Amino acid sequence: MSKSKLWGGRFEAGTSELMDRFNASLPFDINLMEYDIEGSLAHVKMLGRQDILTAAEVEEITAGLKAVKKDLQAELEAGDFDFNEAEDIHSLVEARLTAKIGELGGKLHTGRSRNDQVAVDLRLYLKDQTELIREMILKFMQVLLDLAEEHTETVMPGYTHLQRAQALTFGHHLLAYYFKLKRDYERFGDALKRINVSPLGSGALAGSSFNLDRDFTAQELGFERACENSMDGVSDRDFVLEFLSVASNLMLHLSRLSEEVILWNSKEFSFIELADQYTTGSSIMPQKKNPDLAELVRGKTGRVIGSLNQLMLTIKGLPLAYNKDLQEDKEGLFDSVNTVKIILELYPEMLKTMTVKKETMEKAAATGFLNATELADFLADKGIPFRQAHQIVGEAVLFASKKEKELDQLQQKEWEKILGQYLKVDAGELKEKLSVNAAVNSHATKGGPAFEESRRVIIKEKEFLAQKE
Ligand code: ARG
Repeated sequence: MSKSKLWGGRFEAGTSELMDRFNASLPFDINLMEYDIEGSLAHVKMLGRQDILTAAEVEEITAGLKAVKKDLQAELEAGDFDFNEAEDIHSLVEARLTAKIGELGGKLHTGRSRNDQVAVDLRLYLKDQTELIREMILKFMQVLLDLAEEHTETVMPGYTHLQRAQALTFGHHLLAYYFKLKRDYERFGDALKRINVSPLGSGALAGSSFNLDRDFTAQELGFERACENSMDGVSDRDFVLEFLSVASNLMLHLSRLSEEVILWNSKEFSFIELADQYTTGSSIMPQKKNPDLAELVRGKTGRVIGSLNQLMLTIKGLPLAYNKDLQEDKEGLFDSVNTVKIILELYPEMLKTMTVKKETMEKAAATGFLNATELADFLADKGIPFRQAHQIVGEAVLFASKKEKELDQLQQKEWEKILGQYLKVDAGELKEKLSVNAAVNSHATKGGPAFEESRRVIIKEKEFLAQKE
């Protein structure tokens, strides 16, 4: 049987079955069902206020829409919904309404087009999802902040070029991600401003000859305002692009963190051990514990960025106003929303349950001459130009590595050999200066890894999160 349609008057033949399937969006825009009905309820209420429909008509249509929603919810829950019943969610709801209340159902679409309708649905959906995602990011930030607090004094090597560079703390490292996520939280908030606009009443593209109150429907649906141009209203999808771009950015952050989690969890680093709940085994190598969650997050980042790219390519070259190409805006968006949400739920749990191997981190921070810059700074502080100090320390590192020692293991005599010509040396003082903790704590610049400075930042951010509750 051919699907129920919203058009037909000017057609002599039905569409082919295959064309129907190709054209349909119900299998995915069923996701918008509740928003579609919400939009219709606001529209019909406005039609009543503007005397376009009678109060009795409004009442009957409203009750009908609510009943349709209940039916659909029940069918979806029971798993006996027929995804081939109609072309899209809009035709489905209208057909169900008409089946329930008779011909009057046909009045619902007065002064409206599926073009503004679908844009309303998508915005209502995305508004909800963006708010939800923002809340989830806040929870994630809280977990990062708690871990950072726990590890304010857990020293570890910091890396550049994946080479041990300078000592810092695990807490400081996690705080870096905290701030990346904080920006994502803000970016979703910015995107929300542009999502939160009502296109309802834009009609097919040129508004309507009915006296619609667009400000009323905008307010009724909780939008900040109604859009100012009907052609823009039905053709704008940059609110989706913006969301996907912000989501891609979030995924990029989580992908970078995942890469680090994977490295840290490896035997080579052994900085952390992920809990059994968030790792998987190998079917052939019994000793393995794979960081699948982190790997999947890294992998799915490509998928979200892919959806962003796909929609940009879909929109490129589209003339105004609505074109069916725009139906392609949904699947990638839904997929991205679901992907981001499940990750935001799982990831903090993985972090909370990991074991942090402090001793390994500390040992790694104490080897590999991470304190070389410290020594150079010390010499510069004594009046030796930094460039020259750098050269001297280079020689000291060469000297120590030949002896298979770290800098802070050098004896008085050895120091005299290296530094004697420049200053009076005291091996005890140097040993203290070059210890890992002293090195970290000397980096007390604003935003640096010194324990006290990290504590200051954590207190400030705790206040920020407390305010959001
Ligand atoms: N299913 C369509 C979409 O997702 C709804 C709008 C259809 N409009 C139209 N003029 N055919 O974009």
